[in-house]
Amino acid sequence: MTWAIRKPAPAVTDGTEEAPPEQGVVVSRQAQHDSAAGGTVNRSSISLRDVRVVYQRGRRQSGLIALDHTNLDVGEREFVSLLGPSGCGKTTLLKVIGGLIEPTQGEVSVLGGTVDQARRQHAFGFVFQDANLLPWRKALSNARLLAEVIGKEAVDEERIRDLLRQVGLDGFEGSYPLQLSGGMRQRVGIVRALAFNPAVLLMDEPFAAVDALTRDVLAEVLLGVWAQARPLLFVTHSIEEAVFLSDRVIVMTARPGRVLEEVPIDLPRPRTREMRDSLAFAEVRRRLRQAVDRAQEAGGNPL
Ligand SMILES: Nc1ncnc2c1ncn2[C@@H]1O[C@H](COP(=O)(O)OP(=O)(O)OP(=O)(O)O)[C@@H](O)[C@H]1O
Ligand SMILES: [Mg+2]
Repeated sequence: MTWAIRKPAPAVTDGTEEAPPEQGVVVSRQAQHDSAAGGTVNRSSISLRDVRVVYQRGRRQSGLIALDHTNLDVGEREFVSLLGPSGCGKTTLLKVIGGLIEPTQGEVSVLGGTVDQARRQHAFGFVFQDANLLPWRKALSNARLLAEVIGKEAVDEERIRDLLRQVGLDGFEGSYPLQLSGGMRQRVGIVRALAFNPAVLLMDEPFAAVDALTRDVLAEVLLGVWAQARPLLFVTHSIEEAVFLSDRVIVMTARPGRVLEEVPIDLPRPRTREMRDSLAFAEVRRRLRQAVDRAQEAGGNPL
């Protein structure tokens, strides 16, 4: 079990308040999860209101509006995918939520508090397109990297080994990244993000660099380790993948990105490989495809 300092979350936030950690209460990360899973406290959620992000360019150029009037909610334990044309601001949106960039305008709240508070609680587990493993560290050692950065108490060796087993990497704990396939490296990246038990998962096209078959396997692996235990925001360009994984898919327009439509994926869980061939799956895929077509008509480029 790992531990974190947590300040009681304010019901409403203006996005500016800061509190020194010593004012916090000590809670276990497991307890954070348990309270979220029990549904008693609405902690594990993300909310964006009227968010605008303008990137400054050179002196002679006007700013580039990446996101405008963007609203989004991700519920506790909800798997939400973002689908939209290249350059519509999906990565920007994840970065805003994870506190890597500040919105020019609008409000972002995470776990009932500010993004800063969530960052200080180490609430975010990021997975990017490239696993970016350290070549001199073995798989187990890479998987525990972020937990080590957070602090000794965040390293739960048994949990990390268990996660590696769950993603099918038992026997490879001692392998260096060069000795692993692309899909195996991505699995280590997923374990690394989950190793310190983050309350929120943000994934930016984590399977884009692997072949289609591996991608399908990784999707199943991801659902297994996510286990409906926390909110997950997932960026993809694949309609099929979005249907298979998500509770809801957000379809965005081309730049400046806005939420055009939300498509609920009303397929039962657990999702299975066989489901991909079902009529119900085909029907949801068709509806999502139509929404993507509407996004393109609204001015987007092809996915
Ligand atoms: N650091 C930056 N400085 C200036 N402009 C940026 C920066 N990052 C992104 N942009 C611009 O903001 C827009 C949105 O970029 P973003 O990376 O969020 O898109 P995306 O939807 O993730 O695209 P893709 O699907 O290709 O990954 C793009 O036009 C991009 O050129
Ligand atoms: Mg991107």
